[in-house]
Amino acid sequence: MNPREFRDVLGNFPTSVVAVTTTGADGLPHGMVVGTFTSVSLDPPLVSFLADRSSATLRTILGAGRFCANALAGNQERLSRKLASGPGRGRFEGVAWSPSSNGNPVLDGVVAWVDCAVEREVGIGDHLLVVGRVRDLRVESMKTPLLFFRGGYGDYLSSAAVLLDSLVGWDEIGRQPGAHP
Ligand SMILES: Cc1cc2nc3c(=O)[nH]c(=O)nc-3n(C[C@H](O)[C@H](O)[C@H](O)COP(=O)(O)O)c2cc1C
Repeated sequence: MNPREFRDVLGNFPTSVVAVTTTGADGLPHGMVVGTFTSVSLDPPLVSFLADRSSATLRTILGAGRFCANALAGNQERLSRKLASGPGRGRFEGVAWSPSSNGNPVLDGVVAWVDCAVEREVGIGDHLLVVGRVRDLRVESMKTPLLFFRGGYGDYLSSAAVLLDSLVGWDEIGRQPGAHP
């Protein structure tokens, strides 16, 4: 198995798109996009994500000892590209956010967020598993989430909603007359 094959096959497992954010010693916001956010334990309430050992944001999060996991919404692909690319400095230019009670950036327009204190870090291969103890959390909107699959972004579509739309006839809107269903 070569790394290309590993990436290609693992890309078939869809992930959420989450911005993990914190503030540096300078008080400025820092953050990066991860597809590895997951819940870990209910009692005590723990969540986690995996970060490449070379990640600059990882160092800032460990320095601060806290982070916020922001679940990006289906209409935030541009924001995700901004937070996942280039050098960390400037990533937050033009990005609206407000501080959580623990001081972590909560991004405007997200689906939900989970605010954490770093509980533990575990080195695994070329990544570090960062485990966070949940301090605060909230659902911000009923927007659908941004997803990542086979190397591209996509929006979530509930099959129940599709069924409902077809029953109500809303799926007819915009369809060309005479076009096949
Ligand atoms: C959809 C998506 C998921 C990602 N998931 C992760 C991840 O789980 N862990 C990670 O270390 N990097 C992940 N990345 C890459 C980081 O966002 C990217 O390398 C970022 O530039 C790291 O920032 P930093 O060097 O400032 O820490 C992902 C990128 C995208 C677009």
